[in-house]
Amino acid sequence: MNFNVSLKRVVDDSYDIEIGYSLCDALVSDLSAGLCGSRKRLAVITDDTVEKLYAGEMMQKLADAGFAPELFVIPSGEKSKTRQMKEFLEDSMLEKGFRRDCAVIALGGGVVTDLAGFTAGTFGRGVPFVNYATTLLAAADASVGGKTAVDTPLATNLIGLFNQPKKVYIDIGTWKTLPKQQLSSGLAETIKHGCLGDKELFEYLEKNIEKVFDCDKDVCEYISQHNCEVKYKVVMQDEKESGLREVLNLGHTVGRAIETVSDYKLLHGQAVAIGLCAQARLGESLGFISQENVRRVEDLCERAQLPVRIPDYIDREKLLDKLYTDKKVRDGKLRFVFQKEIGEMMCFGENEYGKQITREQIAEILREM
Ligand code: GLY
Repeated sequence: MNFNVSLKRVVDDSYDIEIGYSLCDALVSDLSAGLCGSRKRLAVITDDTVEKLYAGEMMQKLADAGFAPELFVIPSGEKSKTRQMKEFLEDSMLEKGFRRDCAVIALGGGVVTDLAGFTAGTFGRGVPFVNYATTLLAAADASVGGKTAVDTPLATNLIGLFNQPKKVYIDIGTWKTLPKQQLSSGLAETIKHGCLGDKELFEYLEKNIEKVFDCDKDVCEYISQHNCEVKYKVVMQDEKESGLREVLNLGHTVGRAIETVSDYKLLHGQAVAIGLCAQARLGESLGFISQENVRRVEDLCERAQLPVRIPDYIDREKLLDKLYTDKKVRDGKLRFVFQKEIGEMMCFGENEYGKQITREQIAEILREM
């Protein structure tokens, strides 16, 4: 006997990204208008830094509007992005009586949005979630595009789901409370977007990058808008990363490996900056980018107060081995994506953006750095 379980479906996961200042009222009014259906039980997931700054106001406003919010707090930092922390959140939510009729609000930076989005994706087999991004890194990258995940001891982001939020709120006003190195970290993803798809953004950063540290309104709005545009245009074409979306991994092959080998002493963006410089140097040796443009990438990273050399404490052999945990590895072979000069990506065939690189090729570049 043979049965066919026909499950064809058309999915509409479209959502809005709202960029502005103090967007709590917007969130409450969207929820009241049915953003997450009629759900009243809301798990607000945040970290212990953001909790002190922004959770009180959000909890109060949600409660005043007739919702039943509960706060779940994790320690801040990449080391919280684990399966164990996901389990802690799940058990805490279950203990507080949360079931399938809840929704999740991720309030924080990339660690919170990645972890909360993944938790929402499996809690009760999936409940809706929204991202309220309070860092430049989350605004530039993590909160948009639906990649949710946890890290494992082997490498970052290996376990997760594509799970799109119902809406993303980018509250630029929260950047004023970010430590300088967190702003730098977010700028790495911003520079990445300039390198891979937005020459105008890159040139704008060359003129204005220092103003981000003063939270200059025009500059912060400009980069927020351009970051989102670069990112969502790629995601709309290739949500599940069957080809084009790999370009968003520019700088991440070396970056993610350094982040893990540093035991998270380097922030994500700091590691990505080194990775951006590594792919640019390797790209120069392969004829994809001029020496002058490599220098421009390095200069911009330095002006963003990001590292452009591999710290001495990183064991080079360990780093080389770690590169092979990258998601772009195919048949045990390393693949890199490369920028083409400034503002474009190299394409190596139809829907093929990765190029196979030998251990020796990248080892040589890493020795120089
Ligand atoms: N952060 C890379 C991506 O969203 O695809």
